[in-house]
Amino acid sequence: MQKSTPPLLHGLPVIGNLLEFQKDRFTLLRRGYETLGPIFTIQLGPKPAVVLIGPEYHDFFFRETDKILSMDKAYQFLSVMFEGAAFTAGPAEYDAQRHIVLAPFAGKKMPGYVEIMVEEITNWLDSLGEAGTFEVVSAFTRITQYVGAHALMGRTFRDQLGDEFWDLYAELSGGIDAVLPPNLPLPKFIKRDRAKKKLRALIQQVIDERRAQPGQHNDFLQDFVNAKYKDGRPFPDDLIVSLILALVFAGHETTAGQGSWALILLLQNPEYLFKLRAELDEHFPPGTPFTHQVLRNLPHLDWALKETERLRPSADIIFRYNLEGYEIGDYYVPKDWLTMLVPRVAHLNREIFTAVDQYDPMRFSPERAEDKVADYTLIGFGGGRHRCAGYNFAMNEMAAFVALVLQRYELTLLDKTPGIQYGLGAPRPTPTRIGYRARVQARQELGNAALIQSDAAGGVLKR
Ligand code: HEM
Repeated sequence: MQKSTPPLLHGLPVIGNLLEFQKDRFTLLRRGYETLGPIFTIQLGPKPAVVLIGPEYHDFFFRETDKILSMDKAYQFLSVMFEGAAFTAGPAEYDAQRHIVLAPFAGKKMPGYVEIMVEEITNWLDSLGEAGTFEVVSAFTRITQYVGAHALMGRTFRDQLGDEFWDLYAELSGGIDAVLPPNLPLPKFIKRDRAKKKLRALIQQVIDERRAQPGQHNDFLQDFVNAKYKDGRPFPDDLIVSLILALVFAGHETTAGQGSWALILLLQNPEYLFKLRAELDEHFPPGTPFTHQVLRNLPHLDWALKETERLRPSADIIFRYNLEGYEIGDYYVPKDWLTMLVPRVAHLNREIFTAVDQYDPMRFSPERAEDKVADYTLIGFGGGRHRCAGYNFAMNEMAAFVALVLQRYELTLLDKTPGIQYGLGAPRPTPTRIGYRARVQARQELGNAALIQSDAAGGVLKR
């Protein structure tokens, strides 16, 4: 006898759960989990989606991706922007591209990217002065944009085309729409297409320059320009352009949102912040340069970032398109439905984590290691072969941001309880103001370090 489909979460006639999903999907999906259990159905307008919660189902989802669960069909609405690169490529083309996409993420390249992160974060810190207020989401978004432009396409691109590029990029991503057909003559789609054309031309120009004058460039673009498929064919320029745009999409808002939350959650939890400050003062006192190496000595920072991933994952949903029907648990899930994982709800699983709603980074310490009871307990960066390629990049950028801000300033959270903005890209905190005041000790020691450098540089003051 055919099994039944998973229980349906109550919704409105015709549109089902669509409105609530668009407004506040976390509350909707948590209610589904708490009332119907780990496998349930929601109705997004005409489209049914099954939600799977729990490590064994996550494992199924990641193993079946590119088999019965299609990634590129699920993200088809992004194809109009990224045209066949990375996660919008079908499985065969993805296989052919995979080593090219992953090349710039090789571990040996990370110290160079960390230098870029530190430079961009320090530029911003230097613009702040002794005391004042910053809005963390816009500030960190800007930093991730500069880091992105610099690491992906080089310093010259970052300096000359930074603002123009990001304004166009905003128009491109303003055209993301998972529901409407992408070719409707709507103003947002017309703007998207115009911006896409200009962006592609800007990136193509840099590719042409690189091909005309091959040189040493430690950035993603150069890796792609040099890349070949395994059969020796060069990686075509139009795919290089698409891949750069896709990486910008995958990397900057996600990191900005989760990194902003990391700082906000720390300021909301002064006891843990105190522990982290002690660790930073020991291993990263004012005046110490932040390098890739420093990060290895900051476990409390690492646990704080993991707890942020658990409670406020930027990738709060991950989904696939069912190419075939399948059985799972007591249920049957039909072909052509969507299958969805919900990191933000899955991370509140009481069979895995204690006091699930509490901020408690120590749960990741080796003594407690709550996440180690099974694979795929923490899925904020996905899993399996499509697991986030930029995991180390993002973790280092968020760590550098938090550590460098705390090294220089005492902070006060002025907007005490930020909400979540669900927009076109990753969900992010609502605008959140933070007050800052230079740490006295930091000032003195930075002064000393600058003097020492000035001495060494023959009187030229460098900071
Ligand atoms: C906090 C920041 C980030 C979060 C939360 C995040 C999350 C994710 C998730 C959940 C996936 C898997 C999507 C799926 O299975 O459908 C993914 C894939 C990916 N991410 Fe990230 N990401 C972040 C930062 C970055 C950065 C900085 C980059 C690049 C510079 C990046 C590049 C990628 C790429 C290329 C993939 C596709 C990998 C593949 O299909 O093989 N991500 N990311």
